Amino acid sequence: MNALVACFSATGTTAKAAKLLAEAVGADLYEIRPAVPYTSADLNWMNKSSRSSLEMQDKHSRPALADTNAPVADHDVIFLGFPVWWYVAPTLLNTFLEAYDFTGKTIVLFATSGGSGLGKAAQGLQVSAPGARILDGRLLNGKLDKAELKQWAESLGL
Ligand SMILES: Cc1cc2nc3c(=O)[nH]c(=O)nc-3n(C[C@H](O)[C@H](O)[C@H](O)COP(=O)(O)O)c2cc1C
Repeated sequence: MNALVACFSATGTTAKAAKLLAEAVGADLYEIRPAVPYTSADLNWMNKSSRSSLEMQDKHSRPALADTNAPVADHDVIFLGFPVWWYVAPTLLNTFLEAYDFTGKTIVLFATSGGSGLGKAAQGLQVSAPGARILDGRLLNGKLDKAELKQWAESLGL
């Protein structure tokens, strides 16, 4: 599978899962980074006016990226990972999708969370990559097994 694993992680949990997934499927790994990193104050979901709260209240917010060097053009399958924020993907993922041409590509979502599922993440991301096929994928919470991840990725038949 000529896949790319692209991942945003604010506090490292999704990054760990992404690394294991990339190893399991033999994929390149790319870290999606915001131009301005999120501080712990930014991530405080109890504060209605924290940066993450303000961004997530506005589905049109598009936080800037640190770079646009992801090798998207070289891959037809992109595993796209993120932490679940307010039941969906952080709007930084919309910025990422809008920065490249995903037409004809398959995007498989994966996420970590405090327990919530992927919810309507795919719906929220599809607007930013209208020409892509976005599959819901799965949560990668808890202890992960490389062989099981490989089997899962292969079972997608991509
Ligand atoms: C702003 C914010 C909103 C969150 N919203 C949810 C949520 O709706 N459901 C959930 O289960 N976890 C939620 N979480 C928890 C994260 O999804 C979880 O801690 C994730 O594993 C963090 O991944 P990371 O270390 O890669 O950033 C939220 C965390 C933050 C910072």
